[in-house]
Amino acid sequence: MVNIAIFASGGGSNALEICTYFENHPNIKVSVIITNKPNAGVIGVASKFNIPSYIIGKKNMEDGSLIAILENHKIDFVILAGFLLLIPTMFVRQFENRILNIHPSLLPAYGGYGMYGHFVHEAVYKNKEKISGMTIHLVNEKYDEGRIIFQAECALDVHDKPEQIAEKVLKLEHKYYSQTIENYINSFVS
Ligand code: GRF
Repeated sequence: MVNIAIFASGGGSNALEICTYFENHPNIKVSVIITNKPNAGVIGVASKFNIPSYIIGKKNMEDGSLIAILENHKIDFVILAGFLLLIPTMFVRQFENRILNIHPSLLPAYGGYGMYGHFVHEAVYKNKEKISGMTIHLVNEKYDEGRIIFQAECALDVHDKPEQIAEKVLKLEHKYYSQTIENYINSFVS
């Protein structure tokens, strides 16, 4: 069995999709959920699926205690789903090529420090972009710069406000993240 950990800071709608997709999967299991926000929606997702969850702080990412949690649960891959803390270098090295992130734009456009959530969609809106989309990529030491694994785009309408852009992009995330995780892991371990 390949064990995955989901890291999320927010509502957890991607985490919900991923947990549902892998609930009865033959070789991939969501074994732990990590958040840095005590009131994050993802904690409810963890209890719905009976998955152990941990609330951690920035310090735990650097002092080895988060790594220890992941080792206890024999975690092979880390899936970031709206996780807002930067992953420290030591952590990236430990899980080299085994951390995936999803970003709500067509990277390299609208990525980097401070570009997350509604900030991304507002910038896309301001620039009157005709398309947006989402990117699934490997994580390295820099925000949003790891190797791109998968992208999907959506057409934007002139009337789309940032909220509508966010909705369209989130739909793509829900549609593609789980199967991209599955394909990536299976190609990695086979
Ligand atoms: C998604 O748009 C994701 O791309 C971004 O944060 C959002 C998370 O949404 N990194 P949710 O918490 O999964 O609902």
